[in-house]
This record gives sequence, structure tokens and C-alpha cells, in this order.
Amino acid sequence: MFHRIYRRPPLRAALLVLVLLGAAPGTVLGDDDLYQDLGGQKGVSAVVEAFLFRLADDARISHHFAETNVVRFRDKLVELLCELTGGPCSYSGDSMKLTHGGMGIDHADFNAVVENLIEAMSGLGIATGVQNRLLARLAPLHADIIER
Ligand code: HEM
Repeated sequence: MFHRIYRRPPLRAALLVLVLLGAAPGTVLGDDDLYQDLGGQKGVSAVVEAFLFRLADDARISHHFAETNVVRFRDKLVELLCELTGGPCSYSGDSMKLTHGGMGIDHADFNAVVENLIEAMSGLGIATGVQNRLLARLAPLHADIIER
């Protein structure tokens, strides 16, 4: 199921880090510089914006978002990434389990979302090391998002 991504070396490397750090999520706690390294609120918002454009164009997963309130999705995602990276925000959206439960999201869906995020960050010139630190913060969420 990963072959599509694994053929692409930079994505493969980032995903490997995601998987490895996902197995040991505690390893990166306390790294509060990440928000600054992403460019603060402006940088996080730019990542989310670029990510959403890519999601909308990705036929593998765009159907999941057909009924989604894009403004809320964007705002909540910015909040979540801000909080996860040590920024001055508190996530006020629904839990990952509540939000994604019942959507039947599988590993391929999750990888497609991550791939879009990586490409969005790469497009903005964000260094691979910074990207990987964000991916490591997101990895532990997969257990509440993937259902099959
Ligand atoms: C690390 C991975 C992911 C993160 C951090 C994430 C985060 C979020 C957040 C913060 C929201 C907004 C919650 C709210 O409105 O209160 C959301 C909504 C949503 N997510 Fe995800 N998500 C992830 C993966 C996925 C995947 C893999 C899919 C499916 C392909 C997906 C589909 C959706 C959809 C459809 C909504 C909108 C739900 C609605 O319309 O109410 N997400 N997600």
C-alpha cells in the first residue's frame, strides 16, 4: 500500500521518520522552537493554506472533504498545528477520534494526507528537518484517525 509513496525518495525518508518516531512519540516533546522554525503564525497558516489546495486537488482523498466547511477546517488545523508545535494557541476543535470516527479512513488515506502536507511544506521551502519534526508531532494522532 505504500509503494506509491516509497518510489519517491524524499517522501519515503520523511514517512520513515514519521513511522519510527510514531513508535516513540515521547522523543520529541519539549521542542518548542518548532513553531518559530515554521515561521510562527504566518508560517503555520501558509502551510495549512498550501496543504488545503493540494488536498482539494488530490482525487485519492478529496471526496472525504466534499461536505467539509473549509473555513472551519482551516482554522482548526492552524490552531492544532500551532499548539502541537509549541505556539501560543489552544486547539478548540473536536477530538481527532470524534472528528474522524466513522469516515473509514485507512492507512493509504492517512499517507495521502501526509504526502500532501510534505509537498506543501517543500513547496514553501521548509527544511526537511523542520518538516520531520512536525510529522513526528502528528504521527501519534494516527491511532485516533485511522479505522482500518
Ligand atoms: C495527521 C493527520 C490529520 C490531522 C492532524 C487532521 C486534523 C483535522 C482537524 C483539526 C480537523 C477539524 C476538526 C474540527 O472541525 O473540529 C479535521 C477535520 C477533518 N478531517 Fe482530518 N486530520 C488528519 C487526517 C485526516 C485524514 C487522513 C482524512 C481523510 C482522508 C481526514 C479527513 C477530515 C475531514 C473530512 C474533516 C472535516 C470533518 C467535517 O466536515 O466536519 N483527516 N481534521
